[in-house]
Amino acid sequence: MCGIVGYIGYREAYPILIKGLHRLEYRGYDSAGVTLIDDDNKLLVYKAKGRVQDLEDFVKDKDTHGTIGIAHTRWATHGEPSNVNAHPHYSQSESLALIHNGIIENYAVLKAKLINEGYTFQSSTDTEVLVQLIEYIKQINNCDLFAAVQLALNQVVGAYAIAVIEKGNPDQIIAARKSSPLVVGIGEGEYFIGSDASPIIEYTNKVIYLDDEEIAIIKREEDPKIITISNIEKTHEIKELELNLSQLERGGYPHFMLKEIFEQPETLKNCMSGRINVEGTNVTLSGIIDHKDKFINARRIIIIACGTSWHAGLLGEYLFEEFCRIPVEVEYASEFRYRNPVIHPDDIVIAISQSGETADSLAAIELAREAGAFVYGVCNVEGSSIPRNTDSGSYTHCGHEIGVASTKAFTAQVTVLTMMALAIAKEKNTINASRYLKIIKGLSDIPSKIEQILKLNDRIKELSLIFTYAQNFIYLGRGYNYPIALEGALKLKEISYIHAEGYPAAEMKHGPIALIDNEMPVVTIATNSAIYEKVVSNIQEIKARKGRVIAVINEGDETMKSLANHYIEIPATEECLDPLLTSIPLQLLAYHIAVNKNRDVDMPRNLAKSVTVE
Ligand code: AGP
Ligand code: GLU
Repeated sequence: MCGIVGYIGYREAYPILIKGLHRLEYRGYDSAGVTLIDDDNKLLVYKAKGRVQDLEDFVKDKDTHGTIGIAHTRWATHGEPSNVNAHPHYSQSESLALIHNGIIENYAVLKAKLINEGYTFQSSTDTEVLVQLIEYIKQINNCDLFAAVQLALNQVVGAYAIAVIEKGNPDQIIAARKSSPLVVGIGEGEYFIGSDASPIIEYTNKVIYLDDEEIAIIKREEDPKIITISNIEKTHEIKELELNLSQLERGGYPHFMLKEIFEQPETLKNCMSGRINVEGTNVTLSGIIDHKDKFINARRIIIIACGTSWHAGLLGEYLFEEFCRIPVEVEYASEFRYRNPVIHPDDIVIAISQSGETADSLAAIELAREAGAFVYGVCNVEGSSIPRNTDSGSYTHCGHEIGVASTKAFTAQVTVLTMMALAIAKEKNTINASRYLKIIKGLSDIPSKIEQILKLNDRIKELSLIFTYAQNFIYLGRGYNYPIALEGALKLKEISYIHAEGYPAAEMKHGPIALIDNEMPVVTIATNSAIYEKVVSNIQEIKARKGRVIAVINEGDETMKSLANHYIEIPATEECLDPLLTSIPLQLLAYHIAVNKNRDVDMPRNLAKSVTVE
């Protein structure tokens, strides 16, 4: 869920660590801390509730010398956000300091055993139990730190990305992971660790992604040794990252979210690049081609995801059923993993995830694989856990998404799902040639149409001022735009903190219309579709009850212009591609309302970019 940074090398560690924590701020957190080994080989631990800047201010006049250190941003799961519960956590003798992302699920049992052995605890975290356990094992077995970590992790149930350093041993960091991500950076005579590449990329683009249950022994002057908790030595290919710093900077925008909204024409071109041929006559997805029989013979597709990715999954259902004639179920990963679902070996499970680290989605994938299903990943972060735990997949190639509210990753997910549906339909011969070509052409035109919509930014900003103080919003859509109604509502609530709900437009009659009065803004997606007239009727029902209608319409729609209180005109496209356009004004509307309310748009309260805990 949050952030880990580590450094060992020839430079002063602290500046690297604190800058690294700033680069990880987007992941969401409530406290932060750093540990260094100073020139006398003493452990220095500094930690503070609040922002990384609060930690920096706290450390300002303190000793921060040392060329080895680890640092952490916490998103509390066990124990409230506080100085005491912040990481790093000392062992009892204060000879070890450890940081941890994840959850030690059996911490209570382990804690009780340690208390019986005379251990006392300063914090109420699960993490402190782990560092005490490591110390306990080290003492009773008289073994080195690596062996103690290895033995301790064999007793742990749960998710972890950890780093631990030892007083008197300034030449070694021990790191390990299971379910929570951890990257090792390979520099020139210096080594780094990070929850992702962003704190590392400034120094090296050579990285190793640890796999589950792997421990990295990182020493000065030698490349890391990687041994599993079952004591198997592993070798990893060193990957060269393409991520660069400019991707991490805001590029002149006030917020990463706005930058990422405006990047969408480019990111969708990248997403389609190499997959739609230059002539615009064919879609090629290697992940599908390599396993086309699976898709041709698939009895059912189960899509699992969370949040915005789940909304993309709903669109996948509409696309795969319409074009490939394969029954589709869309499941919240958090529900799927616990409801004992029926999964057949000839099912195809598609896991959609921007981060590739969402704990619920990873657990759902494991369940599907145990049942013998073929699992296909649609992810954005290369080398993340989900792509490394699926049988095949497609990357969305939309670049680093830093804003917690997902925008460019969503439209890229939808684009990949559209290309998948086209590729499978062609293999199954369930789409005729002219329709296939027409939709490919429509897809290729989407980036330029988004460019046109982005020109409405100022107009949408103006419109947002009218609704800044609304207490509630309703979002309505039908057909392919029903998932966009849900997504538009999620965007608004997660960054502006205004309550908002999305519904299928016709569903209003079955209860929710009781909510309509002249205070209720109703955002309605009323673009051209086979059921346009039905949507108009639904809007008339809203207007008859004084609802304030903000309609997303196609250019020149005079009917809707006369009916809606406010409207946003966008270019028309194929009905199945409409979500790629109708989502854009809703992203901008949510963004501007949140800015009007002085919200922390890129790091909304309570949220994290990657939910790596249950
Ligand atoms: C999206 O705006 C939210 N931040 C959240 O719902 C997100 O989509 C969800 O946590 C799933 O994340 P993932 O795509 O990385 O798996
Ligand atoms: N479970 C640990 C805690 O609550 C770590 C949470 C995190 O991932 O930051 O301190």
